[in-house]
Amino acid sequence: MLKKPFTLGKITLPSNIFCAPLAGCSDLPFRRMTAKYKPGLIYCEMVKMDALIRHDPNTYRLLDYEGGMHPIGAQLCGSKPELAGPCAKILENLGFDIIDLNCGCPVDKVTKDGSGSGLLKSLDLLGSLVSNIVAAVKVPVTVKIRAGWDAQHIITQEATRIVEAAGASALCIHGRTRAQGYQGAANWEFIRECKQASKQMPIIGNGDLFDPENVKKMFEFTGCDAVLLARGTMGKPWLIEDIYRYFSNKAPLIRSGLEYRDILLEHLDHILSYQNERRALLDLRRVGCWFLKGGKGMRHLREALNRSSAPLEVRRMIEAYPWSETDFSDTRPQEEECCSSSAHQ
Ligand SMILES: Cc1cc2nc3c(=O)[nH]c(=O)nc-3n(C[C@H](O)[C@H](O)[C@H](O)COP(=O)(O)O)c2cc1C
Repeated sequence: MLKKPFTLGKITLPSNIFCAPLAGCSDLPFRRMTAKYKPGLIYCEMVKMDALIRHDPNTYRLLDYEGGMHPIGAQLCGSKPELAGPCAKILENLGFDIIDLNCGCPVDKVTKDGSGSGLLKSLDLLGSLVSNIVAAVKVPVTVKIRAGWDAQHIITQEATRIVEAAGASALCIHGRTRAQGYQGAANWEFIRECKQASKQMPIIGNGDLFDPENVKKMFEFTGCDAVLLARGTMGKPWLIEDIYRYFSNKAPLIRSGLEYRDILLEHLDHILSYQNERRALLDLRRVGCWFLKGGKGMRHLREALNRSSAPLEVRRMIEAYPWSETDFSDTRPQEEECCSSSAHQ
């Protein structure tokens, strides 16, 4: 419970506070920002098995990482058992420390071939995919599920048993069903059910972790072994540091408007150095929106960012803003308004 090193198969991670795969968001610039705060593990965005096996360059780019990001996990999405092993091997050869199987993506174009949360409806297939991945690689394998397809088909306990028997080193559970999308609060009871069904396999809890207090509550309520932060780190990469401080009984850091500005500019500069101009503009607006959300008096700046037509103009507008006069009392990112990704899981 609480913050401590975490053993996953044969490797020991520095802490049990992890950063989630976030398609369309947790790219290299995003992970540079979270890596600074030393989470126990960082996952890359999901990659599709079909695209990985045909060496699609855009898919490989999603897997870009740097030495300072270890321990780092890659996540596979697909439903073909014959591809699972070879794809896992590719990821292992790329140097990933951990390989995860996505069983949570709710997007129709993913679930229609049985991938993502489609696997929650075919637990035998899920078991075969996990077994094939485990057999193909030496690194630990994790599996990330939702609680079931819908409220009538909760599979937490059965999935836990199948995933454990197939040799996974840990199971991560997002406490919502596929049908729920992001409606309502995550139900942590589902995480507790997985923990109860597991013989030895560690359980990673996920859903609605936006502050240290709730991380503590999740550990206590569910008995989970680690937690996975997701939307809580969007525009707030220091959430990891806040959690570490909280668990070490250190006073919370109060960040000024100028500190917000500097961290936002740092993220923007990572985007500018990594993306082409067209993509950078979209990413700057999106990331800017996360950071500005909740800051009082920020509406005009947000609107101006969305009208701007050049990345450097966005940067200049942010620099010129009177940040020292800005109050950030509620900075919880509102992913629905701020993130344009269609792959929300
Ligand atoms: C924009 C976005 C992209 C996501 N992409 C992935 C992904 O690639 N793989 C995955 O397993 N989950 C993905 N998720 C789900 C998150 O990892 C996490 O399970 C979910 O957001 C619940 O946690 P939270 O309530 O703390 O945000 C995504 C979520 C969002 C909002």
